[in-house]
Amino acid sequence: MMISTIPTNEMISAILNSIDESIHAVDNNGMTIFYNQVAAENDGVSVEDVLGKHVLEAFPSLTKETSTLLKVLETKQPIIQQPQRYENIKGKFIDTINTTIPIMLDDNLIGAVEIAKDYSTIKKLGEKVLDLQARMKSQTKQGKTKQAHSYTISDILTNDAALIEVKMQVEKVANADSAVLVVGETGTGKELFVQSIHHCSIRCQNPFIAQNCAALPESLLESILFGTTKGSYTGALDRAGLFELADEGTLFLDELNSMPLELQAKLLRVLEDGVVRRIGDQKTRKVNVRVIAAINESPLDCVQNGTMRPDLYYRLNVFSLFIPPLRERNFDIELLTSHFVELFNERFSKNVRNVEHTVFELFHQYNWPGNVRELKHTIEHAMIMAEGHTLTVKHLPIQLQQIKKSTDTKGVQPLRMAMQEMEASLVKQALLQTKGNIQQAAVLLEIPRQTLQYKIQKLNITV
Ligand SMILES: Nc1ncnc2c1ncn2[C@@H]1O[C@H](COP(=O)(O)OP(=O)(O)OP(=O)(O)O)[C@@H](O)[C@H]1O
Ligand SMILES: [Mg+2]
Repeated sequence: MMISTIPTNEMISAILNSIDESIHAVDNNGMTIFYNQVAAENDGVSVEDVLGKHVLEAFPSLTKETSTLLKVLETKQPIIQQPQRYENIKGKFIDTINTTIPIMLDDNLIGAVEIAKDYSTIKKLGEKVLDLQARMKSQTKQGKTKQAHSYTISDILTNDAALIEVKMQVEKVANADSAVLVVGETGTGKELFVQSIHHCSIRCQNPFIAQNCAALPESLLESILFGTTKGSYTGALDRAGLFELADEGTLFLDELNSMPLELQAKLLRVLEDGVVRRIGDQKTRKVNVRVIAAINESPLDCVQNGTMRPDLYYRLNVFSLFIPPLRERNFDIELLTSHFVELFNERFSKNVRNVEHTVFELFHQYNWPGNVRELKHTIEHAMIMAEGHTLTVKHLPIQLQQIKKSTDTKGVQPLRMAMQEMEASLVKQALLQTKGNIQQAAVLLEIPRQTLQYKIQKLNITV
């Protein structure tokens, strides 16, 4: 992008007034030189009340010691992502994450700026979830409610040889009761696998709690996971974190590679020692939690690009489940398409019975970056558009219709390879159904046991 003019002060202040964060800047004497509308709304004052005034004059409840802006002017050290809770002049409690940094010009301190993100709503929601989970837990202990898990292994539909093998591992992994890492692109079905592991395990009657590590700012994630003690920061209460609430059960940490590295170190200590320490607490508490983590990139890439600590990776990698992307699961497109057609037939009271073969041709050419979730939404769209018994290309979202049908032979698999893949997939499916019993699997496949044994060896299938 070319910059044609240097922004004027008015332009800069218009920009700073149009963002979501509250901004308060002072010169090196502590006099306010910039204060935006969001800051004024949070503090319950007007911009004019603060602009041009000294911090302590504008906010009489602050002191030289408690004002982070004045502290930064004194120490010249930034204060990064500090959670803060305060009551504004109008009596409203505001929770913010503050970053305060010194403004330097050629080694000289010329002021300080504080940027605060209001997370009152997210925090309240997070705390409500914790309280609800604590309540549910005590009810479960009293036998009032049974845990309802939405997904089990039979909900995972596949005809793909590699994925059938992953399904076969679930039972073994579930019984082992150790940490598990589930790896797969977005929409591949990680959540289904994680819930299935919990459901198959001895912990199935105990809590299953999921937390997305990308959804919260670092300090909030820390207090939600580990809990807080009264006074550990302004406004903090005695509250158990998710590790304590998931005691005897499973804690699912989704998008683990978004968890800040310092928290990953803390997580590793819990995994190693089996104890948690609430923020600000002296004592530790014993917890018995199985951790299942999910990431949507290759774990080695995460280690290499510094988003995952190697020691945590080795700790979790005792068991890893790799879920292949949909574009590599040749036989799943048809299977999942008919499954979703049935689902939406029922939901939308439609009566679609066939899918035109050109639709599948397109589906096999498309690379499905959103995987099964994207296929599900695509079918949902098509089912809304469909009128008769047949789904056709014209019912598909426009971006799919626009994929050019390639005229060359790219994408066509040699027949021998495709047949082998199909064979492996059927053999694995039979073995899965018979829990690895070769005799029974041979009966299902209607072939002699010796032939099946030979195929298992030839196709390199683990039983
Ligand atoms: N094998 C499958 N059989 C049936 N439904 C599936 C299968 N895999 C995924 N789905 C469906 O696809 C959707 C996405 O799956 P899921 O939420 O498990 O993906 P994810 O890997 O956790 O994605 P993200 O990384 O975005 O969280 C869900 O609605 C789920 O029901
Ligand atoms: Mg998920």
